[in-house]
Amino acid sequence: MLKKGGNNWVEGDRFFDREIELEALEERTRDGTHTLLTAQRRMGKTSLVRELLRRLTETGGFETVFVDLEAAMDQADAVAELGIRTRSVRAVWGRIETVFANVLRGVGDRIEELSVSELKVKLRAGVDAGNWSQRGDAILSALAGSKRPVVLAIDELPILVNRLLKDDDDRITPEGRRAADGFLSWLRRNGQEHRGKISIILSGSVGLEPLLQQAGLSAHANIFSAYDLKPWSEETAMSCLAALSDTYDVVLTVDVRRSICQRLRCCIPHHVQMFFDRLHDHLRRERRQEATLNDVDWVYLHEMLSVRGQMDLQHYESRLQTVLGRTGYPIALEILTQAATRGDLDDDTVRQYEMHFPARDGDGDPSVEHVLHVLHHDGYLERREDGTSRFVSGLLEDWWRARHGRNFVPVFASRQADRGADR
Ligand SMILES: Nc1ncnc2c1ncn2[C@@H]1O[C@H](COP(=O)(O)OP(=O)(O)OP(=O)(O)O)[C@@H](O)[C@H]1O
Ligand SMILES: [Mg+2]
Repeated sequence: MLKKGGNNWVEGDRFFDREIELEALEERTRDGTHTLLTAQRRMGKTSLVRELLRRLTETGGFETVFVDLEAAMDQADAVAELGIRTRSVRAVWGRIETVFANVLRGVGDRIEELSVSELKVKLRAGVDAGNWSQRGDAILSALAGSKRPVVLAIDELPILVNRLLKDDDDRITPEGRRAADGFLSWLRRNGQEHRGKISIILSGSVGLEPLLQQAGLSAHANIFSAYDLKPWSEETAMSCLAALSDTYDVVLTVDVRRSICQRLRCCIPHHVQMFFDRLHDHLRRERRQEATLNDVDWVYLHEMLSVRGQMDLQHYESRLQTVLGRTGYPIALEILTQAATRGDLDDDTVRQYEMHFPARDGDGDPSVEHVLHVLHHDGYLERREDGTSRFVSGLLEDWWRARHGRNFVPVFASRQADRGADR
């Protein structure tokens, strides 16, 4: 019985398919390969890793640790978070307590009763800018000393790296670069040292590679071998819709399910789930059980692209803002709106944007080239055979057009029009 997914990561009876990917990742962990999991947003990266860890703990003879760095402000936060999450590995927790003996003194037997957040505050007090790397080394050595092999999943590392790199104006600074360099070197060194005992899986809602490239730190990612998580095939998405319709007692014919996939164009699991949820609500309101092709169209236009639907999609914008900053984001906004309203983006247009937003060396601002790199890498745009780019997802394209496309005139054209009017 497949349950609805909602917005957060899923596992167990909310997790569908991905058997091939789970098998591939399990094999990598058994081989001791470190993995950088890449995919466009909402593809189910976090869910895939969570489900993998769940299965490896249950049956695979592994110890598993899942660390989310989204809220970590600096290296010390990240190490405290790592420390607290190793609590899931009973066999080494005793050694972690020793590492943090100075701040845990006095807690005694009460440690079992402390909540994760209380304990985290304690551990955080034991890590600072001067000792985070030694503390981090000690935690990872303790993990490596476990009898069973350990899988260490680190989610949202790029968000932390981005935070370390940039100042309040979203510019990469020399100090920021040093901080990110230090943290990534530490991770790489540990990954190398404990290879075979700890295998690391990195993931995140923004890509690591374009960020490292922009900062000139790409070499740090070379101990990680990339694994690209693809969208569901139409067949898989249709089976998922069939499984959901069974659970919730609605009827979706093959034609209806195919029409959903065609609207989406790219079957990103979250979008498939969202579509089902909206269609289900719609049928409930209409007091019907069977959906028609008209229902699919109606729900797409009035729900998926509506204000409520936009809430679910707005986090695309906020992530782009985070990673591109206040100079890069307006460039992305232009490029994506242009691609959504025209249906594609050609070299000529890119050149016009490059002239309009000239790259300046050394000021830490992203260039048009970098923005395009991010948009391609993170799966917003794809290059086609004729050299033009377009949106990968039909839903995202329609949504972007609905949100930003009204009366859109590209910046370079509006400048020309102004000049024309002045003459
Ligand atoms: N294997 C799956 N089975 C069912 N639903 C899934 C699956 N993977 C993802 N989903 C759906 O997609 C949503 C997002 O999943 P998840 O948070 O894992 O994606 P993500 O790629 O980590 O997203 P982000 O880019 O925001 O980090 C889930 O809430 C769920 O609805
Ligand atoms: Mg995620």
